[in-house]
Amino acid sequence: MFEKGSTIIRDAKVFDYDYVPDRLIGRDGQLASMEVLFRPLANHGRSCTAMLIGPVGTGKTAAAKCFCRDLSAYCATKGSPIDVIFVNCRSRNSEAAVLLHLVQHFDKGFPERGFSPDQMWRALRTHMANEGKDVVMVLDEVDVLLKKGTMDLVYQISRFTDGGQGQGRSVSLIMISQEPLNEMLDEASFSSFRRANTVVFGKYGYDELREIVLQRAKAGLLPGKIGDEPIDMIAESAAEYGDARMAIELLDRAANMAEGEMASEVDAEHVRGAKAMIYSTVSESKLMTLDRNRMLALLAVSRSIKKNKYVNMAAAEKTYAVVCEEYDTAPRKHTQFWTYVQDIEKLGVIQTIVLNDSSGRTTLISLPGIPSKVLSEKMESLLESSSSKEER
Ligand SMILES: Nc1ncnc2c1ncn2[C@@H]1O[C@H](COP(=O)(O)OP(=O)(O)OP(=O)(O)O)[C@@H](O)[C@H]1O
Ligand SMILES: [Mg+2]
Repeated sequence: MFEKGSTIIRDAKVFDYDYVPDRLIGRDGQLASMEVLFRPLANHGRSCTAMLIGPVGTGKTAAAKCFCRDLSAYCATKGSPIDVIFVNCRSRNSEAAVLLHLVQHFDKGFPERGFSPDQMWRALRTHMANEGKDVVMVLDEVDVLLKKGTMDLVYQISRFTDGGQGQGRSVSLIMISQEPLNEMLDEASFSSFRRANTVVFGKYGYDELREIVLQRAKAGLLPGKIGDEPIDMIAESAAEYGDARMAIELLDRAANMAEGEMASEVDAEHVRGAKAMIYSTVSESKLMTLDRNRMLALLAVSRSIKKNKYVNMAAAEKTYAVVCEEYDTAPRKHTQFWTYVQDIEKLGVIQTIVLNDSSGRTTLISLPGIPSKVLSEKMESLLESSSSKEER
């Protein structure tokens, strides 16, 4: 059952949460700031600190990994290799769990259980004192830990970075958080993370997200398996949140859906399906508030859009006439159909845009949040139950 070759996806690993692309889009400024902050380490082996702050999916983890990869390579070529320890504080969300990870970095066989934090600190100090390389510790999602009141851990680590522990080589620290850390850290530990060390990650805009999706599609999909329209749609959806993870998840799900259907490529319909899986904006209760005429209009839009991103008003209206005939209802005039479309837009189910070009004004309708196939089926069943009610 697994022997069938992929038709869409070339390399599924590209969509894994821990995949880091070779090049980050639109983060040159942040990477350059980190480079400035870490120059003392790269050139003189002195300890440095940085805090990477920004909302969900803005590339903080990816930037830290890229940066440490480049820094390691640079230091290695200079003949002073460094040791990077990456800890995710969400999955290791206690002082003991983080400590254990740090100790096990140096001593793989260190027992999971049976040691107190004090004993682990002692073990860590000994390892640090014997360490032949400068160390960079990355505490990712450190806010999760700090919100639980685990301040001491950061304070203790900051004492390593201050060089007050008599360790062999320098210890540098990168802390990553969605929220600013100043309020979460006490004065003592904050003094070692001077404000100036903060690197801010803002939300991504449409253009950046589009490029991120394009980059990931090139790496993960077979050539020519996704066109511009579905890529635009993914970037548009994710731009509402500025979140690159959402964009990549949409691409991944849409590609899997296309592959499951043995489609020839990823199209707009697959993106709508992926979106509906991630968050359903079109609930049945919303659609039930529509009267019969508007339900017919929405069914017509849904049937006429099919796999495309947009349908124009004229084509939707043609389908509307066919739908009305099927449901034994006299179609309303153009202006009335237009009003229906606008009312449905107010519910958030469809969107319209007006284009002015050489051939005049064209209104395009899009269906951002639900696959047309799913919507058509929903509308058909709602219309059926509304006509059976009328008959009673
Ligand atoms: N500039 C970028 N170029 C290419 N890919 C990116 C970029 N920024 C983020 N990504 C990708 O988007 C996804 C989310 O990014 P990342 O995990 O770094 O976000 P984050 O800021 O750490 O989010 P969180 O606060 O939720 O941990 C990852 O797959 C990452 O590789
Ligand atoms: Mg992260």
